[in-house]
Amino acid sequence: MCGIVGYIGDRDAYDVLIKGLRRLEYRGYDSAGLSLMPRAGELNCYKTRGKVAELERYAQDKDKSGTLGIAHTRWATHGEPNDINAHPHYSQSGDLSMIHNGIIENYVTLRTKLEQVGYTFKSTTDSEVVVNLIEYIRNTMGLDLCSSVQHALNQVVGAYAIAVIDRNDPNLLIGARKSSPLVVGVGENEFFLASDATPIVEYTNKVVYLDDEQIVLLRRGEEMKIVDLSNVVVTPEIHELTLDLSVLEKGGYPHFMLKEIYEQSRTIQDCIRGRVNSEGTEVILSGVSQNRDKFMAAGRIIFVACGTSWHAALIGKQMIEEFCRIPAYVEYASEFRYRNPVINEDDIVIAISQSGETADTLAAVELAKQKKAFVYGICNVVGSSIARATHSGSYIHVGPEVGVASTKAFTGQVTTLAMLTITIAKERGTISDERYVQMIKSLQQLPQQMDVVLKQREKIEELSKIFTYANNFIYLGRGYNYPVALEGALKLKEISYIHAEGYPAAEMKHGPIALIDAEMPVVAIATSDSIYEKTISNIQEIKARSGRVLALVSEGDNQIGNIVDYVIEVPTTDEFLMPILSSIPLQLLAYFIAVNKGRDVDRPRNLAKSVTVE
Ligand code: AGP
Ligand code: GLU
Repeated sequence: MCGIVGYIGDRDAYDVLIKGLRRLEYRGYDSAGLSLMPRAGELNCYKTRGKVAELERYAQDKDKSGTLGIAHTRWATHGEPNDINAHPHYSQSGDLSMIHNGIIENYVTLRTKLEQVGYTFKSTTDSEVVVNLIEYIRNTMGLDLCSSVQHALNQVVGAYAIAVIDRNDPNLLIGARKSSPLVVGVGENEFFLASDATPIVEYTNKVVYLDDEQIVLLRRGEEMKIVDLSNVVVTPEIHELTLDLSVLEKGGYPHFMLKEIYEQSRTIQDCIRGRVNSEGTEVILSGVSQNRDKFMAAGRIIFVACGTSWHAALIGKQMIEEFCRIPAYVEYASEFRYRNPVINEDDIVIAISQSGETADTLAAVELAKQKKAFVYGICNVVGSSIARATHSGSYIHVGPEVGVASTKAFTGQVTTLAMLTITIAKERGTISDERYVQMIKSLQQLPQQMDVVLKQREKIEELSKIFTYANNFIYLGRGYNYPVALEGALKLKEISYIHAEGYPAAEMKHGPIALIDAEMPVVAIATSDSIYEKTISNIQEIKARSGRVLALVSEGDNQIGNIVDYVIEVPTTDEFLMPILSSIPLQLLAYFIAVNKGRDVDRPRNLAKSVTVE
């Protein structure tokens, strides 16, 4: 995780860096810091525990001049989140300043070696070892900074995105990456470095995505130069971005999360746009049509993902098996990558990731590629590492998601999985032509139906007051709504810090029902579907034990209201699309409970949005 920003050009670096850190704060907010070079021979470093706002307060009356600088917002992996462990870190002589995103796995060995030759360390981070190693190599081998970085990184085991500056060279900014993202922004006489493009878009739409083991040299007044760790020169490939700046602002909402929840009817339209034809008779996913043979011959589909994306994968599995009749499996990327799984050449591995940077998911992609499976990515962030590492894929096109708790990305992922399913099922002939058209129709009605769900804000806000002080929650669902229960529980945990569990409703009686008493709120997702009656029986079992039940039901349901304590209605849609509607009230419920508890909704404690460490 961690967000990194660098700038070299004619502007005041401080402004660019602080603004950039604010945009990257979703990546971590344990501490923040920056180094600025006002002139050759002088390097100012300000860093402090806490969020970017604390850094701004801290730097208020300090010298903030300089047109070269680097900045960091940290999600601690090694060493507690305090002022000293905050980045940037200095080399022993104070000449070099460096920021790092990732984990240096062999830092203990490197640190011991450096200590033996007289280096001392101020922090307990793994990162500080890198800046000292660069300096040690430079001093002992008499190399320039770029070659020293190259030599140092050849000794490093682990993941890194780094930016380094030298106080004796006010014209040079160096960046390098391996398994952690780094984007270069190319302006007029200026360059930017950042973990993603959001700090850059305001100044230029031209970016270069660095690849693993590449080092970029950004020298004032010169073209950028990229070399790899073996010193082979790489020609930069410039991409043009089309990111609308307004989507990076809160637009009048108190939190990004609420804004992103409310954007969903539009983001789903964006997701569908260009994929369903104007007559509504055909879905075209270019990733599938260009690889038709692979999908026709697929032996299995294996989904790899983490967190919310893993929940979307559970829904994808059900869709693929029901409509495409291809055996489908869902794996936690972190488990998959380390357990020597069976992967066949005719398997399709689908990696789902909002950020496209999740380290475990990326590693699972690499593993699947090694085993010669066809790897398909479902990502949100355009140009992200997973999007680039996969053979093909579909973007969900929901725009930048800033709130740490994923909302619009989840509904976008499920919508994309639905389009993928419909396309494959049609190609493979496992659904009839009538069913195909009916499914597309249901898909097209979703944005309008989402607006109906979103109108229930006041009701859900009222209900949230009843539940704010509960210590535990259970979320129940079956079939397509079971992953929604898991997702609803995750949302509540993440932002309110209330313990919550999602469970398949019928599994309750095999254990968790023992938890039920009058104190335990149960959220039951009981929309009209093929197992509606069974779900009602499960709710009865809870009511018989005095549980307090809030049920999510289909519009016009006249049974469940008589059994449970509270009801929220959602419009009816095709069963496989239900999660796209039923997840929204649960997002709102978690949001309002967290707000009632005074939590930092967009930046919940201990979390970060982009998990680029294992
Ligand atoms: C979602 O609310 C979470 N913050 C988290 O579980 C997230 O979904 C997970 O880290 C995976 O991220 P990705 O989709 O960017 O790979
Ligand atoms: N390992 C570094 C630290 O703890 C960077 C952390 C990260 O990138 O998440 O400071």
